[in-house]
Amino acid sequence: MPNPDWEARHAKTVASGSAELTASSLIVEFTTQLQPGRALDLACGLGRHSLWLARMGWHVTAVDRSRVAIEFLQRAAAAQGTRIDAVVADLESGGLVIRQDHPWNLIVVYNYWQRGLMASVRSGVSPGGFVLASARLTGSFRVEPGELRSAFSDWEILHYREHQNADAGHATAQIAARRPTIA
Ligand SMILES: C[S@@+](CC[C@H](N)C(=O)[O-])C[C@H]1O[C@@H](n2cnc3c(N)ncnc32)[C@H](O)[C@@H]1O
Repeated sequence: MPNPDWEARHAKTVASGSAELTASSLIVEFTTQLQPGRALDLACGLGRHSLWLARMGWHVTAVDRSRVAIEFLQRAAAAQGTRIDAVVADLESGGLVIRQDHPWNLIVVYNYWQRGLMASVRSGVSPGGFVLASARLTGSFRVEPGELRSAFSDWEILHYREHQNADAGHATAQIAARRPTIA
């Protein structure tokens, strides 16, 4: 399946006023239990997870390659009375450096898979911090079965699931993992 033109797709969604801004149940379930801190939402799209986290008191930085999506998110954050650092950057061309010296309490990588990004995600989470991620098991940008779990095999795996997503019509792997406090 070809890589969808996200800029055009987001523009159409924004224009039609039909943006889906409900956070996924995995994100809601896990973050409800957490003390808010610094969160990074990679490939955030229109920002449903960033908006949720900001409402929950997190300091959120959101990143996406789509300018339309980021501008929409800035407006949506203001409309709900929160502030989100929303940044246009291309993760594939190193447009964002995930710093290790100022790590994140939470990194969200939802419905996006870029194999080479995982090392930076791992080192960008603070000890005791969390990653919440999901990726398709089918299509061009797919994670292999078991690959997401393997990427965090030395972390505490709080949740891992591979399943057919009936609504989206494709199979998905999802994970919630916690970085050990002592390396
Ligand atoms: C399936 S959407 C997921 C959006 C969001 N994470 C969610 O779950 O609602 C994938 C997003 O990845 C973004 N994207 C694709 N390639 C990218 C890249 N190289 N750098 C940054 N964002 C990218 C697209 O613009 C799109 O918003």
